[in-house]
This record gives sequence, structure tokens and C-alpha cells, in this order.
Amino acid sequence: MKAVVLVGGFGTRLRPVTYAVPKQLIPVAGQPMLYHVLDLLPDDVEEVVLATGYKADLIDAYVRAHPRRWPIRTVAEAEPLGTGGGLKHVAAGLSDPFFLLNSDVLASADLTEMRAVHVARGGVGTMALFEVDDPQPYGVAALGPQDRIIGFVEKPDPKDAPSRWINAGLSIWQREVLDAIPGGRAVSFEREAMPGLLAKGVYGFRLARYWEDAGTPERILRAQQLLFDDHRGGPGGVPAGARGTGPVATMGPVSVGGATFGKYVTLGTDVTVAAGAEVENSIVMDGSVVERDARVTGSVLGPRARVRAGHRVSGQVLAEGAEA
Ligand code: GTP
Repeated sequence: MKAVVLVGGFGTRLRPVTYAVPKQLIPVAGQPMLYHVLDLLPDDVEEVVLATGYKADLIDAYVRAHPRRWPIRTVAEAEPLGTGGGLKHVAAGLSDPFFLLNSDVLASADLTEMRAVHVARGGVGTMALFEVDDPQPYGVAALGPQDRIIGFVEKPDPKDAPSRWINAGLSIWQREVLDAIPGGRAVSFEREAMPGLLAKGVYGFRLARYWEDAGTPERILRAQQLLFDDHRGGPGGVPAGARGTGPVATMGPVSVGGATFGKYVTLGTDVTVAAGAEVENSIVMDGSVVERDARVTGSVLGPRARVRAGHRVSGQVLAEGAEA
């Protein structure tokens, strides 16, 4: 089976960091978000096709430098084609069925089991669903017998939500669904293609443990906690020369002598956290500097950002090269 991963979004909710770094390459618990999504794929996947657009060159360069167990190919859109148009654009040569994954969902999901369920039920599609307290920002499924999806509403008013089971952004489709997507223009798979597909049999696959759409600063940090708690953030602990609890994931050489780390921190390569400084529940990207006695909590520091000595940064997103 092949897998398509949609990687073409602008990541507007994570600006200003996404002006410099595409959302999928933001490190979360020690590796780019995209790689946590790829980790969910079964070992026997033949090929991964990344449908790229925004900052396609950066994504292409990263995946070439960081190969995985399956071949990864990138196909860039000249103009954003949306989730359906992006899929249609890479349709040539897809397997039957194929996986379709969003690149920003950080979850515990057994996609091998989902594939078995898909084959057993025999519909045109199987979509992972996750139960949330507030389904309003998501696509929400109405479920019938055998978890057949009998209705699907995008971003409903709370009173109109048919359930609390939302589209988790991980799915399997038969090739025939590609015929339901018009070519050559932007198409939302969820809004334009899905409603017509339901009559052909689309089933839900309920996820149990955790799931997060890592599209906003708060959610990316929550996703990082979930991944660390699930031991998907590497060995943890704190880097040599530093103090504190961790877990801390380091992605390359760092200079952190005399610094203190609380829980859930990712440090990119060539990060400096000076003596007396503290970092907790944050993502500190490549080349950033946290000066002496500064404190960073609940924040995402873009590449080469700087927090000046003694300053406090809490709940902030700093752009590439920004100073606080
Ligand atoms: P925001 O701008 O913050 O809403 O983020 P986003 O652009 O990533 O949008 P959203 O979270 O709704 O996207 C869901 C998934 O579809 C993500 O994996 C996106 O990368 C992907 N995606 C969104 N639009 C496009 C597109 O036009 N083309 C492709 N190939 N992928 C897309």
C-alpha cells in the first residue's frame, strides 16, 4: 500500500514561526511533527507521497536528508489545491486502497489494525475518529450500525453536532474515491467529496488513547506532552551539565551547562541555554539562545530567537531571529 500525506497547508495558526519553518518541520518531542505522523505507518508501506505546497523546498530537503524505512517522494503544488485537490494532484500510481494522512495530527493509532478493519468491512473508505469534548472546530461524524458514517458535518454549531466523534485526519480510501474529486482546482475533500462518498460505505475506526491536532501553539505543546508521556520523545532526562526533571529531547549539540529544565522540552541543534536560565514545556528551535537567568515556559521559540538575560517568556511564539 502507498500513503499520501497532505503537507501543503500554510500553518497560519502557528505564525510567526511558520513564516520561516513549515508547520510539519516544527520539532515536537525530539523530531519534526511530520515524522511522528510517518511513524504511524506500517513497515510494509511501499511508498510515501508527500503532497506539498507551502515551503515545499524545505520539506523536500529535509526528507532527503532524513530518509526513513520507506521511499518518500514529494510532489509540490504550484497553487494550494486544498485537501481534495492535493490528493487528486498526486493520484497517478496510487495503490488500491491507499492511506491518506494529515501531517499535523499527533496520535496513538494502529494503522495496521485500521487497514484490517477497512478490508473486512469492504467500504470505499475508513476514517479514524477520536472523541472530543467540543467537536465544534472539527469535522464530526454521525455513526450508524457497525460504525458506518451516515453523516458528516464540518465545524458544526454545538447544537447541530451529530456526535463527539471527529475526523482524526488518518484514513484509508479505495482508488475510486479519486473520481469524486474534480481535477485542476482547489477542492476540500471533507466538504466536497465526502458527502457523496458516504452512500458507497465509509466506516469509522475509533481511536482510544490520545490524539491532538497540533495546529496551534497550545495544542502543539499539549501534543508534545502526550508524545513524551507515551515515550515517543527519546530517552528523556536532562542533558549533561544541566539540572531539573525533564524529559528533554535534544536534536543535536547544545550548550546548557548550569541551566535548569522542567518537564517536556525539545531543544533543536546548536541551542544555548545559559547558566541560571530555566526552560519548561517549550520548543526551542535551532540556534536559539536563552541567556543567563531568563525563564521560558509554555512557548515556541523559532530558529535563532534570543531571550535576553533575566527576561521571562511565557505562552509566546517567537519568530525566527526574534528577541524577547
Ligand atoms: P492553518 O493555516 O493554521 O489552518 O493550518 P493548515 O494550513 O495546515 O490547515 P489545516 O490544519 O486545515 O490542514 C489540514 C491538513 O491538510 C494539513 O496536513 C495541511 O498541511 C494539509 N493541507 C491544507 N491545505 C492544503 C493544500 O492546499 N494542499 C495540500 N497538499 N495540503 C493541504
